[in-house]
Amino acid sequence: MSFTIVEQAPARLNRSELAVPGSQPKLFEKAAQSAADVVFLDLEDAVAPDDKPQARKNVINAINDIDWGGKTLSVRINGLDTHYMYRDVIDVMEQTGERLDLIMIPKVGTAADVYAIDMLVTQCEAARGRKKRIGFEMIIETALGMQNVHEIAAASKRNESLHFGVADYAASTKARTTGIGGPNRMYAVLTDKDGDKPRDTHWGDMWHYAIARMVVAARANGLRPVDGPFGDFSDADGFKAQAYRAAVLGAEGKWAIHPSQIALANEVYSPSEAEVTRAKRIIEAMAEAQRTGKGAVALDGRLIDIASIRQAEVMVAKAQQIAGAK
Ligand code: GLV
Ligand code: MG
Repeated sequence: MSFTIVEQAPARLNRSELAVPGSQPKLFEKAAQSAADVVFLDLEDAVAPDDKPQARKNVINAINDIDWGGKTLSVRINGLDTHYMYRDVIDVMEQTGERLDLIMIPKVGTAADVYAIDMLVTQCEAARGRKKRIGFEMIIETALGMQNVHEIAAASKRNESLHFGVADYAASTKARTTGIGGPNRMYAVLTDKDGDKPRDTHWGDMWHYAIARMVVAARANGLRPVDGPFGDFSDADGFKAQAYRAAVLGAEGKWAIHPSQIALANEVYSPSEAEVTRAKRIIEAMAEAQRTGKGAVALDGRLIDIASIRQAEVMVAKAQQIAGAK
C-alpha cells in the first residue's frame, strides 16, 4: 500500500438513488416509503424554470415535514451557471432542520465549483448553528467535469460521491445519441470478412471510459461512484445490464428515475448469496494457507493469493453493510 492513506467518506448504502422532481409533491410520500437507499429531491432539470420557486418551497416543506425514515436524503440544486443556485442553497440550509444529509451539485466543472458551494454551505451551517455536516454528491456530466474529475473528487471534505450523468454528458461531448444511457447500435464493431460467412456485430459500451474514469477518481479519494440514469423505464433487463456493467467496474449503485428501477438497482448492487459464500471460502482458504506458511493456494482449480483476501473482504463488508441496514 502507499504511505498515503485514503480517507473514506461516511459509509452509506447507495445502491439505489431515487430522483424525485421537486415540483411534484404528490410523489414525496411514496418516495419516503420506497426501498430506495437515497432519495434526491430535484430542483434542477426535472423542474421547469417557472416552477423553480414553488419547487424550492415544496422541497423545504418535504425535508421538514415528511418522515424519511432511515433514508439518506439529498437535494439537487441548480447549476452554478444559473441564478437559482444561490437561493437553492441558502433557502434549503436556512429553512430546514437537521434531516437533510446531502446536497447534490450538478454539472460540476472544476474544483472551484465545489469550493464555492462549500463556502456557502459552511457559512449557512455556522450562522444557523447546524450540527450535522452536509455532504456533497457531485454529478460528472460535462466534458469539463470529466477532464477535472480528480481535482473535483478531492475538492472538499464534504465530498461523498461522484455520479455519472449520462444524458448531460452525451450533450456536452456531442455524442451521437438522444437516449438517456444504454447502448448504441452505432458503437459496434463488425467481425472480419471470412469468405461468404455472415459477419457478427459486437456492440460496445460507449460509456465505458467515462464510468471507469469516474470510478478511479472516486475510489482514489474515498468516495462512492454511482452510475446515473437509464431512461427507458419499461426495459428492466436493459436497466439491469447497465447496472451490472457499472457494478463490475466498481460502482456502488445506480439512479432510479422511476420507482420500478429501485428494486432492480438494490438487487444488482447487493452481492448475491453465491458471491458472498465464495468470498467467505476464499478468506477461509487463505487463513488456512497462511497457517501453513503459503502466500498462494488453489481453490476450485483457481489461484488465490493475498490480494484475493482483500477482494473477498470488500464483498463480505458490503453484505454486512446491507444486512446492518435492514
Ligand atoms: C443526469 O443529470 C444526467 O444528465 O444524466
Ligand atoms: Mg444532468
